[in-house]
Amino acid sequence: MGGFLWGAATASYQIEGAAAEDGREPSIWDVFCQVPGAIANGDDGNLAVDHYHRWPEDVALMSALGLDAYRFSVSWSRVLTADGTPNPAGIAFYDRLVDGLLAHGLEPWLTLYHWDLPAHLLGGWTARATAERFAEYALVVHDRLGDRVRRWTTLNEPWCSAMLGYGAGVHAPGHTDPTEALTAAHHLLLGHGLAARALREADASASIGITLNYTPLYPANPDDPADVDLVRRADGTAHRLFTDPVFGRGYPADVIEDAGPHWPAGAVRDPDPATIAVPLDFLGVNYYSTQMVRAGTTPGPSPHVTAPGLVEVSRGFERTDMGWEVHPAGFLELLRRIGRTWAGPAGVPLYITENGAAYPDAPTADGHVEDADRIAYLDAHLTAVAAARASGVDIRGYFVWSLLDNFEWALGYDKRFGIVAVDEELRRIPKASARWYASQIASGRMRGEGT
Ligand code: FCB
Repeated sequence: MGGFLWGAATASYQIEGAAAEDGREPSIWDVFCQVPGAIANGDDGNLAVDHYHRWPEDVALMSALGLDAYRFSVSWSRVLTADGTPNPAGIAFYDRLVDGLLAHGLEPWLTLYHWDLPAHLLGGWTARATAERFAEYALVVHDRLGDRVRRWTTLNEPWCSAMLGYGAGVHAPGHTDPTEALTAAHHLLLGHGLAARALREADASASIGITLNYTPLYPANPDDPADVDLVRRADGTAHRLFTDPVFGRGYPADVIEDAGPHWPAGAVRDPDPATIAVPLDFLGVNYYSTQMVRAGTTPGPSPHVTAPGLVEVSRGFERTDMGWEVHPAGFLELLRRIGRTWAGPAGVPLYITENGAAYPDAPTADGHVEDADRIAYLDAHLTAVAAARASGVDIRGYFVWSLLDNFEWALGYDKRFGIVAVDEELRRIPKASARWYASQIASGRMRGEGT
């Protein structure tokens, strides 16, 4: 029976602020935030929740909650300048953070890429050179922090970077071209493979993984071949397009066929599938919700580049403030599928690197948040994790999304995922869910199940 790691997750652009401080250069999110109408309320990450300056308080808070680990990401354009030279002042921030975490007994879980690509990289992820630059960047970060950071995640949710950024246009850089989206997906995966290989060569004992996101799909009418085929197609680009090549199976033949002329055949060169299939030490799983869908006609650009007509159907489940259905049984099914299909056969353990919920969180008169809805969500999803472990899926840890209320991308600051609220003065106020989360950790929950 192994231990179980409890943590909280954040991402650089969502919390750091200090957008132009100590030599940080613009990322594609700084640029995208300036596009009129791109972000709710015209919000941006310039100040965010000022974690760049308030990190000692945030680290102390995590320590007080009894967390074992903190999953954060590094801002590429903070640590490397446009001419490719390291920026010592930017790197020093992560140096201080890592030292602070270790001093509090918190394990640093470092993600190299959580969507804030340097804006100067021409072509972004549609350019093969970006994958090569990513591996160089990984080595620069490792060179400075590798003596203390043992857990390395290459990418967070490449589906979002590729499909929301280049397919639906709702994330940076805001493009709406299915061929670009699939090209970006390939270069992201190639970047993962190149970076993981470079890290492995530099540091044989580093633990290296990737975080993928999963939104299981269900056909509205399981007897309607159109609905069933739509689910196959959407599952193809959402899940199998990423998980299959990472586990050495190459790109799924049906996805290539569905993509037709949009498949970037010229971009996928001969050694790429082997590069992408670099052995992993863990798979990070992000899960929030499920969708019941039917074949229809939706106008406009879609993140489902091979299933453009997808329409979501309500099945009456409770929904979070994101409009996402709450479906813990879907999480259990998913974890069993990942265990059975990919991770289990490869002997790769899973970590839940994100799970959580946004709720309106109206504060009480004294500024406190009694978020019983978030507690219920987390409790039900932790129960699903326990059940998956009990049935033999090797899951070794759980990171709640998120430690703090933060910049929720195109939806700005309105959507609150934190177990800790951040008020107008940027004060940190733990919600009831933070106290509850601490009590679960202290209680030894998860100790009983699993391998
Ligand atoms: C995930 C992202 C994370 C956050 C949550 C709500 O897709 O990785 O940054 O926005 O969704």
